[in-house]
Amino acid sequence: MSMKSTLSVIGCGYLGATHAACMSSLGFTVIGVDTDPVKVAMLSRGELPFYEPGLDTLLAQEIRTGRLTFTTDFSAIADADIHFICVGTPQSKDGLAADLTYVKSAVTAVAPHLKEGALVVGKSTVPVGTAQSLREELAQLAPQADLAWNPEFLREGFAVEDTLTPNRLVVGVANDRAEQILKDVYAPILALGTPWIRADLPTAELVKVAANSFLATKISFINAMAEVCEAAGGDVTVLAKAIGYDPRIGSRFLQAGIGFGGGCLPKDIRAFMARAEELGAKQALEFLREIDAINLRARQRVIDVVRSDLSEDLTQYTIAVLGATFKPDSDDVRDSPALDIAVQLHAAGATVVVHDPKGIEPARKRFPTLTFAESVSDCVRGADLILHLTEWKEYRDLDPLVIGKLVKNKMIIDGRNALDRELWRSAGWKFHALGRSD
Ligand code: UDX
Repeated sequence: MSMKSTLSVIGCGYLGATHAACMSSLGFTVIGVDTDPVKVAMLSRGELPFYEPGLDTLLAQEIRTGRLTFTTDFSAIADADIHFICVGTPQSKDGLAADLTYVKSAVTAVAPHLKEGALVVGKSTVPVGTAQSLREELAQLAPQADLAWNPEFLREGFAVEDTLTPNRLVVGVANDRAEQILKDVYAPILALGTPWIRADLPTAELVKVAANSFLATKISFINAMAEVCEAAGGDVTVLAKAIGYDPRIGSRFLQAGIGFGGGCLPKDIRAFMARAEELGAKQALEFLREIDAINLRARQRVIDVVRSDLSEDLTQYTIAVLGATFKPDSDDVRDSPALDIAVQLHAAGATVVVHDPKGIEPARKRFPTLTFAESVSDCVRGADLILHLTEWKEYRDLDPLVIGKLVKNKMIIDGRNALDRELWRSAGWKFHALGRSD
């Protein structure tokens, strides 16, 4: 082995492209492999196929060093010592479970090219037990290699930061050698004092889904409190602030609103439930069903407020929707609560105009029948109601006096509890928010 190992990254989507560019920035030679030639061509030119703050410049910079290359050809990985599997594990079409097709085919595709002592490292989120069975399969296909699991915890919008300065590194390994290889590769990150957790394969897989289940639970907890606040005449934003001062609770992830979406939280809790049932531990995760239900109910509750603010029959009304992505600083519209609400209002007959700083193109691809506006002014012009559904900074900075001149009706619903209610009200707006009764 040379001083610095050569790495391959299989699957160059959100996780893989980030991991490849970040590992290259640590000085490794990195070969990214993806089956999509369009994606590979873009990445090879140093262009990012999606929006992620900071990753575009990092990618371009690393391509220029010559250390980072992308290809569709699996044989290009033959020199690599470590192979990171970063392919997707979406929800399967016919149920709650995760679709493991891509992970399985990634392992089968790398197997013929693995050199003596190579380590395959899964980073994708998988149902517990997957790593063990893939390791057994690899022992058949490529006995000279080993397999470990190293879950990622990166958040969209903070992908580079979370990869290079994670709050912990978790490795699932079957022996000391695999742990040492991973310690060597992550040495620059460990040198920052990053906690290192060695686990067995099933525990490493579980850490990821447990973390996401906890986060989802925290959000649904505060959204359940929002429902109670609405019923009791309370204010969930004050409640969240007050309980958040208790360090055992903590104030983060207590933002009540239209709930969680994205490519991870919703599918991960569903796949976790499906897997627990297979394992005979269904009851242990029954509560996640409720977490999912509370989350989906939040979308419905916004639509109820729209109907009570406008009318049961929405066909005569124009609604401006601010936000299409599942959260700000991302162009990801997968399972986006904002887009789901826009689509439902459109289906109910309202004229819906959607704006998003980065997510219009991906949203249009998914829902070509929706109307999109390129600017906030175009979106809100003539609107009977504004729905604020993704808390982009651009929206938080809006001047209600300026916006007030464009709309038909000065009425706004804050689906994220992120706008300054007093500011909007003092500018003459009727302002409603989820979980705040007055
Ligand atoms: C998540 C996990 O945070 C990350 O560790 C994991 O690796 C992948 O899944 P991400 O999907 O990027 O990351 O988004 P996150 O920041 O966790 O937000 C998830 C959703 O919850 C968003 O739709 C967000 O709007 C919503 N959310 C978050 C709330 O509704 N309220 C909150 O207080 C926080």
